Amino acid sequence: MYRISELAQKAGLSRTTLLYYEKQGLLHGTRQANGYRLYSDNDVQRLHLLQQLQAGGLTLKECKSFLDSKMERVVLEKRLQQLDEDIAQKQQARDLLAALLGEGSLRLWHQQTDTLAPDAHLDWLKQQGFNEQQALQLKWLSKDMNEHDQYMADFMKVFQRLERWGPGSDTDSLKALSVLPITPQRIIDIGCGKGFSTRLLAKHTQVEIVAVDNEQSALDELGERLTEQGLDTRVTLSCASMTELPFAPESFDCVWSEGSAYIMGVEQALKQWRPLLKENGCMVISDLVWLTGNPSQDAKAFWKNEYPDMQTIGKRLAQMHQAGFEIVDHFTLSEQAWSQYYQPLKARIAQLKPDMPDSAAIADTEREIACYEQHLGEFGYEMFVLKR
Ligand SMILES: C[S@@+](CC[C@H](N)C(=O)[O-])C[C@H]1O[C@@H](n2cnc3c(N)ncnc32)[C@H](O)[C@@H]1O
Repeated sequence: MYRISELAQKAGLSRTTLLYYEKQGLLHGTRQANGYRLYSDNDVQRLHLLQQLQAGGLTLKECKSFLDSKMERVVLEKRLQQLDEDIAQKQQARDLLAALLGEGSLRLWHQQTDTLAPDAHLDWLKQQGFNEQQALQLKWLSKDMNEHDQYMADFMKVFQRLERWGPGSDTDSLKALSVLPITPQRIIDIGCGKGFSTRLLAKHTQVEIVAVDNEQSALDELGERLTEQGLDTRVTLSCASMTELPFAPESFDCVWSEGSAYIMGVEQALKQWRPLLKENGCMVISDLVWLTGNPSQDAKAFWKNEYPDMQTIGKRLAQMHQAGFEIVDHFTLSEQAWSQYYQPLKARIAQLKPDMPDSAAIADTEREIACYEQHLGEFGYEMFVLKR
């Protein structure tokens, strides 16, 4: 038999706690003639069980019911559910710390933080030494700062050789040009990549063009092509960010951007680029949209991850109205616009994959190609021709 101080020592609890338990009816010491209480091994075991139940999140009252065999199943089920939620939260916190130490993936964390606190996320990335270009590449491509350098090296290995960096075709671009309600004099082509649209516009008009991209290597190639084609005199290349364009308000009468506005967000692009236009100036942008109100689970899951802000045509049109534009025309890019992008991409992947079997950039691109092959029609690229 144990005196209360001995029991306290055995259980690793204070005497006051045990007195409190006694008062709550959780312990039942045998009172001696001298007034002291004595406790048995049975009480030690009861205390042990009590501590286990408390660690499981049960209140003292619930512990008492359990020890008195009066516990209701539903109470235990509720506590179990709470415990599972706590564990999942702790596991997430642990995964984050491990990933920040370079063990494991940061994908989910970047994605969640970018949704919940985009500015804080960007500031944090900048503090980690990422510039804006890299931060945007991280958001749209590598999705994990620990994998970023390798991912981008692989990505550029795939894309550097390709002409088009997004779906598009000459026929579709010329169609947009043909419906412009003005004859532009000065066009800015934003996110021009290697400049398919820039060269096409230069060839089919007499306008002055400023071609902007933040990837210098793409502009260098564009520069070479323009010189070869004798189109370089009317085109200026500008390595700048679409989020901070170094041009005065009303510098252009046409903003052109194929497959690039999503990078800063279409709504933001509409808002930020509109002041660049002269009165009655026009904007031509293409954007990935849902073509059905009821896409397959597969396509929905894929684009939720890759382009969470993907909208229906109706929703985009409403945003364009809201941003102060008049809708001149809009049409869905042809099948050819997709095949001209994906067929060379597929061939390039097949060529590189044997030497890069574990590349995340290649795996992601293959997933995108599979989604295009299985579900094109549920989504598409829409060309929007707008007037300020
Ligand atoms: C999907 S590609 C489209 C390229 C081109 N319009 C085409 O259809 O081939 C997006 C382009 O935006 C460029 N880009 C990405 N972030 C940018 C930024 N912040 N400012 C300017 N260009 C950017 C990329 O380098 C790339 O060339």
